[in-house]
Amino acid sequence: MTYKVEMKNITKVFGTLVANDNITLGVKPGEIHGILGENGAGKSTLMSILFGLYKAEEGEILFDGQKVEINNPNDANRLGIGMVHQHFKLVEAFTVIQNIMLGQEDTRYGILSDKQARKKINDLINRYHLKVDLDATIRDISVGMQQRVEILKMLYRDSNMLIFDEPTAVLTPQEVKELIQIMKSFAKEGKTIVVITHKLHEIKEVADRCTVLRRGKLINTFDVKDVSIKQMAEMMVGRAVLFTVDKPDVKTGDVVFKADNISVQTWGKTVVNDVSFEVKAGEIVGIAGVDGNGQTELIQAITGLRPMQTGDIWLGHDNITRMSIRQKYEMGLAHIPEDRQKHGLILDFDLQSNLILQNYYTPKFQRRFFLDMDAIYQHANKQIERFDIRSEQGATTMVRSMSGGNQQKAILAREIQKPHQFLIAMQPTRGLDVGAIEMIHKQLLDERKKQKAILMVSFEIDEIMDISDRILVMYEGEIVANILAKDADVNELGLYMLGEKRSMPS
Ligand SMILES: Nc1ncnc2c1ncn2[C@@H]1O[C@H](COP(=O)(O)OP(=O)(O)OP(=O)(O)O)[C@@H](O)[C@H]1O
Ligand SMILES: [Mg+2]
Repeated sequence: MTYKVEMKNITKVFGTLVANDNITLGVKPGEIHGILGENGAGKSTLMSILFGLYKAEEGEILFDGQKVEINNPNDANRLGIGMVHQHFKLVEAFTVIQNIMLGQEDTRYGILSDKQARKKINDLINRYHLKVDLDATIRDISVGMQQRVEILKMLYRDSNMLIFDEPTAVLTPQEVKELIQIMKSFAKEGKTIVVITHKLHEIKEVADRCTVLRRGKLINTFDVKDVSIKQMAEMMVGRAVLFTVDKPDVKTGDVVFKADNISVQTWGKTVVNDVSFEVKAGEIVGIAGVDGNGQTELIQAITGLRPMQTGDIWLGHDNITRMSIRQKYEMGLAHIPEDRQKHGLILDFDLQSNLILQNYYTPKFQRRFFLDMDAIYQHANKQIERFDIRSEQGATTMVRSMSGGNQQKAILAREIQKPHQFLIAMQPTRGLDVGAIEMIHKQLLDERKKQKAILMVSFEIDEIMDISDRILVMYEGEIVANILAKDADVNELGLYMLGEKRSMPS
């Protein structure tokens, strides 16, 4: 049989790192092909080669049985190959329709005409139920909608081979369900799909076949129906993965963090409504809820990324409400932000500098008015080892070149190791492989053992149940439940999350 795409003996090297090591992958026409692998295994690199973003040092690509040269994304587009990237590539200041048409604009008598384009796009929107607002500006729309824009961009170019690089990492469970349906309908029409994901149950649900990469090498390609989730996890990381978290009891101490009556408004709308809670030393409080119920705004208000209209926050006995972000950090706040590329990292600095962003001026990293480069380098190496951060050149790697999951590990390392009493973790394991998730959960529980106070926001119910001591549920800007994790029941949590039940006075 002829494959839709066959990548043969592909090798891609970055400096001394072999990102893809003699990989041969065949994708059948009309199938959904999953790609699994640890953070940094080479998944994005392999698909970027197929999309013409990188050139392989060795190997060849056959498309519909013919040898092809794909030197840039235009070549890929011409063959009908489209890609939704791990970090979206939309122009923030442009509208949705401008982004969809970008590079494919029609001009008639020298005037940009979008009438036909609009019709074609509207047809696609209706056909695949891809709800977007064509005239909204990208920076004003949710990540879920941005992703639908990326999908429309592929469809607008008549792509029939679609590559999705971790499309579900930024989606809510509801959006994930919708996307899976959309992918299935593409496949039914005969489109060929490759999907990279860390969620093993998504592979089970959507993929026909799956390929596993580990440290640049191909481990196996198999029919999904023949392999269990446990076996897939093992192929990925090369050892058994536990999937259960050992959470010993820890005696809690004093209240470390207190929020009193926080309210936040955006554009005159109340998005956080009179929220109060406490976090004690040795306690992990998990905030559960469907994305978009005020979690982001609450955390941004606490950390100082956005103003709060009313309320006070306390760290120990100190009112820190009006302190600057830097002062809050100095008082002992640590923060793993939601958007790692915007608020977490400076992509064009190297890893060691990113690991000391908020404390480079402290004595530990200074020697007679200068930065102590030895100390910084050694500090970085310790974190790289402890958090298993994988990159090409270790401490001196430019962060931009690191894989998505390894960027996330770098932020976690920086925030967990820096002196703090209170750690806010927003979606701490987003984009991480199962092995790395296990490691991060252990680190968070270690912090708890060291009597740190931790506030975690997660959209993964399992993570909330496994890690937290106490669970707060947010719905429409309010805390509607405050329950001990050991008494929590998944179904009941679901009811709180959907606003069908509440146990707190309103
Ligand atoms: N432009 C680049 N320059 C240097 N090294 C790179 C570049 N792009 C990727 N790498 C390295 O190649 C390896 C594979 O990266 P890749 O992004 O393909 O991983 P991945 O499997 O997609 O991981 P993740 O699940 O974390 O997204 C990583 O070690 C990464 O640091
Ligand atoms: Mg990747």
